[in-house]
Amino acid sequence: MKCRKCGGAAVLELRRHNTAFCAPDFVEFFRRQVAEAVKRHRMFTREESVLVAVSGGKDSLALWDVLLEGGYKATGLYLDLGIYDYSKESKAKCKAFAAAREAPLLTVSVEEEVGAAIPEVHAATRRPTCSACGLSKRYLTNKAALDHGFAVVATGHNLDDEAATLLGSVLHWQTEPLARQSPSLGSTHPKLVRRVKPLYRLSELETAAYAFLRGIDYIVEECPFAKGATSLLHKEILNRLEEASPGAKHNFLYGFLEKARPAFERVGEVELNECARCGQVTTGTLCGFCKLADQVKRAR
Ligand code: AMP
Ligand code: FES
Ligand code: ZN
Repeated sequence: MKCRKCGGAAVLELRRHNTAFCAPDFVEFFRRQVAEAVKRHRMFTREESVLVAVSGGKDSLALWDVLLEGGYKATGLYLDLGIYDYSKESKAKCKAFAAAREAPLLTVSVEEEVGAAIPEVHAATRRPTCSACGLSKRYLTNKAALDHGFAVVATGHNLDDEAATLLGSVLHWQTEPLARQSPSLGSTHPKLVRRVKPLYRLSELETAAYAFLRGIDYIVEECPFAKGATSLLHKEILNRLEEASPGAKHNFLYGFLEKARPAFERVGEVELNECARCGQVTTGTLCGFCKLADQVKRAR
């Protein structure tokens, strides 16, 4: 197998693009895909400060690496979820990455903000762990961006994540999540920071290859509360489709974004208020995060 660009020995075949690359040309291809995403969805400019939510995993550290290499002003944000050794190890990976590149890293403790670490939130509130965790992550990334004056939050969601989320929403025709699913969600309120996903054009395999070729040390283990079996099942199903028909995954996602999403956008229009307690944005009176923190407090 030869690299399509230079004719040297290829290290990776990308069947969905009907191509293959050697290591340096793959790294170049990866960065170009990120640049294309940033440009196409007007995610941010080099003048803006970007807050990159980093979990210590391959995707978000690969993203931070690409942005730093590309000359963007990218600060990392690590949320310490307090999930036993998993959190200790992932925090150490983020700190080591930041130190090696002399890049700024903010850390926020969920225990301090919510009143309990993620594993105790479930016991205190009976909410499914991953839903309380997801709610806290969305809230705290937005809050950190507002507190520190960032115009935009970038996450490491890749093509596989986005296609699996889309499949999950379509299977239940969840119109509100469909309206909100986008590589770039603009700010619809002064207290809601723009959210972008610059890796949406790159598969999980490609981000793993990039992280490996760039020598990025990331946490390989998944969170012990394993991301809901259903999202893993959706990824598996999509991988089988991809195997039989390369490009199926990206056609599914890109087709939705180009042709179907606009039809759902109206559904997503809701009235936004400011939370009576913390002032962040909510559709009700108290935001979901303050309700969660109240439940935790009552249980203690
Ligand atoms: P996940 O929902 O775990 O697949 O993560 C999706 C994205 O959310 C990651 O690529 C990160 O950008 C962000 N993220 C997940 N966990 C954390 C964390 N503990 N701290 C900061 N960002 C996170
Ligand atoms: Fe949130 Fe696993 S990362 S519950
Ligand atoms: Zn609130």
